[in-house]
Amino acid sequence: MNQKESSQKWVIGVSGSSGMPYALRLIEVMAQQGHDLHVVFSEAALRVLHEELDIKLSQSFLKSENLFDQSYKNICFYNPKDIGAWFASGSATCQGMVIVPCSMASLGMIANGCGFNLLHRAADVCLKEHRRLVIVPRETPLSEIHLENMLKLSRMGARIVAAMPGFYHKPTTLSELVDMMVMKILDSMGIENNVSTRWRQINDEDVPDSPSTVIPLRLGGIK
Ligand SMILES: Cc1cc2nc3c(=O)[nH]c(=O)nc-3n(C[C@H](O)[C@H](O)[C@H](O)COP(=O)(O)O)c2cc1C
Repeated sequence: MNQKESSQKWVIGVSGSSGMPYALRLIEVMAQQGHDLHVVFSEAALRVLHEELDIKLSQSFLKSENLFDQSYKNICFYNPKDIGAWFASGSATCQGMVIVPCSMASLGMIANGCGFNLLHRAADVCLKEHRRLVIVPRETPLSEIHLENMLKLSRMGARIVAAMPGFYHKPTTLSELVDMMVMKILDSMGIENNVSTRWRQINDEDVPDSPSTVIPLRLGGIK
């Protein structure tokens, strides 16, 4: 695959639900594939980033070298208050947007058209312009309001890719679980990838790309 030909412009929203390893790994894989990435972390996302991965950053310190083990020139970060960013308007084009992870608060704002920050506005633009919008919600259990909001967005054309990794690829590390989810997200975005093992495709040609070494996942009880 010619990387230049397949390079796409995407907006990535990161909101304050649990699941920061999914966000960082997705951004890392897409950056390595050469995509043009425009990333907005909500304030709550920065708090969860600190709680989950011990990465404490303010908006002004959001730089690729502070999140990964190298700097990526194709990632640009935006303050969620910057409602004048280029992707806040439908007249500027891009492939679409992914929100990973998506909190129930942001889900509700977007589903009901009452967003107040750049992340919500960018999603609203994707809906009105009928661009691809992939939403990775994370909450459990789900209330009727959460379920209704997901159904509403799905009916509007958004793809709901719930953060529910499978275990049928027999993960032995948390990174393998994260990569399974990242593969499903990329598939929904229509982006070719070989991040994880696919069902019944374990042979020499389908060995997944090596798992991330940059996300400091603590392995807890999983060996
Ligand atoms: C450590 C931590 C984990 C959280 N996990 C979730 C979650 O899994 N799902 C969710 O909907 N909200 C979760 N929240 C709550 C959201 O962060 C909160 O509703 C926030 O207002 C969302 O704002 P945002 O949508 O602008 O990012 C979590 C908060 C913290 C501090």
